[in-house]
Amino acid sequence: MAVHPLFELVKNRALFEDLARSYGTPLYLYVDEQLRSNLETIDAALRSAIRDYHICYAIKANSNPHLLSRMRYHLPSLGGDCSSPGELEAARRAGITGSECIFTGNYESADDLQAALDAGAHINLDDITSLDRLARLGLPEEISFRLNPGFGRGTFAQIVTAGEKAKFGVPHRDLVTAYRRAYELGIRQFGLQCMTGSGNLDPDYFESLLGVILQHARELETALGIHLNYLSIGGGFGIPYRDDQEPLDFGNLFSRLGRILGQSYRRSKDRPQLWIEPGKSIVGNTGILLTRVTGIKSGYRTYIGTDAGMETLMRPALYNAYHRIYKVGEPEAEPVQVVDITGRICENTDRLAVERPFPAVKEGDLLAILDVGAYGYSMSHQFNTRPRPAEVLLVDQRPQLIRRRETIDDIFRTTKL
Ligand SMILES: Cc1ncc(COP(=O)(O)O)c(C=O)c1O
Repeated sequence: MAVHPLFELVKNRALFEDLARSYGTPLYLYVDEQLRSNLETIDAALRSAIRDYHICYAIKANSNPHLLSRMRYHLPSLGGDCSSPGELEAARRAGITGSECIFTGNYESADDLQAALDAGAHINLDDITSLDRLARLGLPEEISFRLNPGFGRGTFAQIVTAGEKAKFGVPHRDLVTAYRRAYELGIRQFGLQCMTGSGNLDPDYFESLLGVILQHARELETALGIHLNYLSIGGGFGIPYRDDQEPLDFGNLFSRLGRILGQSYRRSKDRPQLWIEPGKSIVGNTGILLTRVTGIKSGYRTYIGTDAGMETLMRPALYNAYHRIYKVGEPEAEPVQVVDITGRICENTDRLAVERPFPAVKEGDLLAILDVGAYGYSMSHQFNTRPRPAEVLLVDQRPQLIRRRETIDDIFRTTKL
C-alpha cells in the first residue's frame, strides 16, 4: 500500500487555513519539492538506461507558465509537448524554445500549423492530409507522423488514444505511404511518434508498445531508405490515484526499454533518440485542490457540497475518475458515513466523489483533493459563470501566487453588450 507523498502535508491544518484565508477557496496548490523529485526520478532513470533521450513535458497537463519555468529550473533540458498555439506560447513564456518542443495536433487548422512552423517546433502530423495543409504553408526540414498501431490502452475508455475507435494517428497500414509522400515533397529528416493512451501503470505494456513502434520504425527505414532521428513513445505513464496502486518504477521501466531499443538498433550511431512526453507523471501528484464545505444535505443520499465542482476539477465528472479526498488536518480520520461530494453546478454529473466512505465533516471544514496537478486547472472552465480558482506554488512551505483568482468581470471582459 502506497501512502500519498503529500499525506503528511495534509495534516498541517494551520498552513491550509492560512492559504484559504489569504487566497480563498477553491484553490489549486502545487508543491515544488514534489515537482523536482518527479522530474529528477524520470530524468535519472532515462540517463542511466538510454544514451540519447529527450523529455517533452506534455503542456496540456498543466500550462501555468510559472510552473513550467520552475520545471525548467529543476531540469534545464526539459522540452515541451504542445498541441495548440496556446501551449506553444506557454512553452515560450517559460523559456522553452520551439526546437525543444514537439507539436502534435489533430485536425490542425492552417493557423495551428503556421504557429508550429513559426515556433520552429518538431512537427508531428496526425494524418497524411495534414501534410498537404502544411505543404501549402511551407515545409519544415523534418517531419514526424503519429502512428496509430491499431491498439491502445488507458485507465478509462475516454483516454485510450489509439486503436480502431480512436480519432488519432495514422493507421499502421498507411504509415509507409505517409512518409513516402513527405519524402517525395523533399523532406529528408524524420521522427516517429506514437501515443496510445493515458494512465498506464503496467511496465509490460510500455515494453510491448515500444516493440511494436520499433517494428514499424525499421520497416519504414528499410522501405524508404531513411533514418529516423527520434522515436517518441508519448506520455501515458500512470500515477497511483488510490492507496492500493503501486507507482511505476521508472528505473526498471527505462532499463527494459533501453534494452529493446539496443536490440533493434545494434549500432548506436543508427539508434534514434528516445523521446517521451510525460504529463501526469510529472505534475499529477504535485497538486492539491483545497475546497471548503459549503453545505451538507441528507436526502436520498448524503451530499457534502463544496465550493469546488466539476468546473474546477472535471476528471470525476468526465471519466468517473477517483481522487483521494481528505479532511484537512485529519487525513487519517476514520469514515463514519457514505457520501457523494459535489459542487454547486446545475448538472447531475457534478461530482468529486461518489458513494465514498468519509469521516464526519461540518460546514466550513476544509477538504484536500489529491493528485490534481495534471488535467485539473487545465481542464477547468467557467460553466454557470463561475470564475476559475487561483493557483499557488509552495516552495519550502512558502506560498507564491502563480495565478490570481478570476473575477466575474474577467469572464465578461471579452463580451460586448
Ligand atoms: C500527444 C500526447 N502526448 C503526451 C500526452 C500526455 O499524457 P500523460 O499525461 O498521460 O503523460 C498526451 C495526453 O493526452 C498526448 O495526447
